[in-house]
Amino acid sequence: MRSIYCGVLGKADIGQQVTLCGWVDRRRDHGGVIFIDLRDREGIVQVVFDPDAAENFALADKVRPEYVLKVEGRVRARSDATVNPNMATGEVEVYGSDLAILNRSETPPFQLDEHISVGEDIRLKYRYLDLRRSAMQNNLLFRSKVTSAIRNFLDAEGFLDIETPILTRATPEGARDYLVPSRTHEHKFFALPQSPQLFKQLLMVSGFDRYYQIAKCFRDEDLRADRQPEFTQIDIEASFIGENDIMDITERMVCSLFSEIKGIDLGEFPRMSYAEAMRRFGSDKPDLRIPLEMVDVEDLMAEVEFKVFAAPANDPDGRVAAMKVTKGGEIPRRQIDAYTKFVSIYGAKGLAYIKINDKADLENGLQSPIVKFLPLPVRQAILDRLEAENGDLIFFGADNHKVVSESLGALRCKLGEDLNLYTREWAPLWVVDFPMFEATDKGSLTALHHPFTAPSGSAESLASKPAEALSRAYDMVLNGTELGGGSIRIHDQDMQQTVFSILGISEQEQREKFGFLLDALKYGAPPHGGLAFGLDRLIMLMTGAESIRDVIAFPKTQTAACVMTDAPGAVDAQQLQDLNIRLRKKQQETS
Ligand code: AMO
Ligand code: AMP
Repeated sequence: MRSIYCGVLGKADIGQQVTLCGWVDRRRDHGGVIFIDLRDREGIVQVVFDPDAAENFALADKVRPEYVLKVEGRVRARSDATVNPNMATGEVEVYGSDLAILNRSETPPFQLDEHISVGEDIRLKYRYLDLRRSAMQNNLLFRSKVTSAIRNFLDAEGFLDIETPILTRATPEGARDYLVPSRTHEHKFFALPQSPQLFKQLLMVSGFDRYYQIAKCFRDEDLRADRQPEFTQIDIEASFIGENDIMDITERMVCSLFSEIKGIDLGEFPRMSYAEAMRRFGSDKPDLRIPLEMVDVEDLMAEVEFKVFAAPANDPDGRVAAMKVTKGGEIPRRQIDAYTKFVSIYGAKGLAYIKINDKADLENGLQSPIVKFLPLPVRQAILDRLEAENGDLIFFGADNHKVVSESLGALRCKLGEDLNLYTREWAPLWVVDFPMFEATDKGSLTALHHPFTAPSGSAESLASKPAEALSRAYDMVLNGTELGGGSIRIHDQDMQQTVFSILGISEQEQREKFGFLLDALKYGAPPHGGLAFGLDRLIMLMTGAESIRDVIAFPKTQTAACVMTDAPGAVDAQQLQDLNIRLRKKQQETS
């Protein structure tokens, strides 16, 4: 029907006869002339109807927002006085010669106008309307551009696009599984994949050598702004490579996306060990745009009177760290109280601080609730170590490692945002040398990445000191968000079983859950490794969207539901019977 999109019209089209199809964004009646802003996925153009063509004019008078129109007309220049510099097509308009109303629309439940803020629930309930907004159109257009650039890049590098199953067995990535009951196998369930991890490894065993997939993954986990129960990975795996090869290819891929699509040069990504990231930034995904750093001060606090500091300073599990905010002395007391409350979310029992009013006067020049507990040489040593100047503020955290790192790490990001401390727009890095395992609250070990990740050392050192072992895993981090993670995998059956055993998975359970993998590793599995990016997170960062929901066409809410289709929904009795499922009473009804 259409000859051209509304949003692309410009000076070059002046004089052209065009046919446009789209939605009415606005209609205005200006003293006998009707202006219709017509919208399609590329943008908006102004169409003018005057009373000379009586029939069209009468029809134009009837249209309302969101009516669907077909308009024929000629593109003409706007007069200097009527040029609209805020509109991409603002130098031209279309003089309408024919108008057809293709469909009418009821008054939408919310105005699509950009400046009107509506609750997200309403937006998601009427998502098809919400998606008509230009911000959302742009995000999804952008997403399509990115996936197409990714495919081009990986195709050119010799990667094959291979699909893997959605109905499968559990693929452990640390979340709960979404389960699908089987009708044909009584009392049995499929699990939706948390990632294509095991299948991509099996494709390496099959010799495909370089694989990628833009893959849907499913994880039943607590949702946050950058998590969805159903999300998309750019999943990559290759054989006969080491970690440097994979990091090189994927870094080049991300750099080429940024330069091609955004015209931004990300430069070479620095690498940082997990230990250093935790020590300096209290996070395994540090936001390097923020110039604040944590500095250990245990050695200075071991002898002080203040038990809150001395106890963790003398405990191998403890940590006492300081963080200087340059010119932070201006932060008012009530704001420090608010930060104290903020760090308590991460388990911190307080947030000590020192304001440096006059560093030459150690007796009276330091304003602080704790300085009275610190002998003068300790005060001096703190100022020296943190290179503090008059007007600066130093925060302190004291507790076990986890609490101090997490709370000061989070405070660091919060200060960065509140005080707008960002030193640059983009800060990518690789975090490497992760531990193989982390201890759970119950004292057992879990895999920090996943159980298929290869250790850096030998099987013997792994078995003798598992808690100290490092892995061959790597994460790509951008502006404090984990964009992607991967590892070199275990390709040796004995090593795989050693790792399973350390994780407390019995031999019987190993066979039951991962027998197919252990078998495959016996039949000539090549050395291999890979990585997966969170596509939604990548698009979120590239577009500057606040939530990954804004870059997904039909996302779930924070409670993992779809308010538009009302999913998840009830099923009828017959369907349940076919599946041999009987529902228990809801918990509220039984209690
Ligand atoms: P991982 O679990 O680190 O690794 O996931 C890879 C990337 O996927 C993104 N991601 C998510 N995005 C949105 N919502 C979620 N719920 C969500 N969970 C993860 C993140 C993350 O960096 N199989 C391994 C990869 C490998 O080893 O090759 C894996 O899935 O951006
Ligand atoms: P208190 O003696 O409990 O009043 O604490 C004195 C100061 O130390 C206050 O500023 C507290 O916020 C701070 N504080 C208390 N516990 C901790 C902790 N675990 N880490 C850092 N600061 C703390």
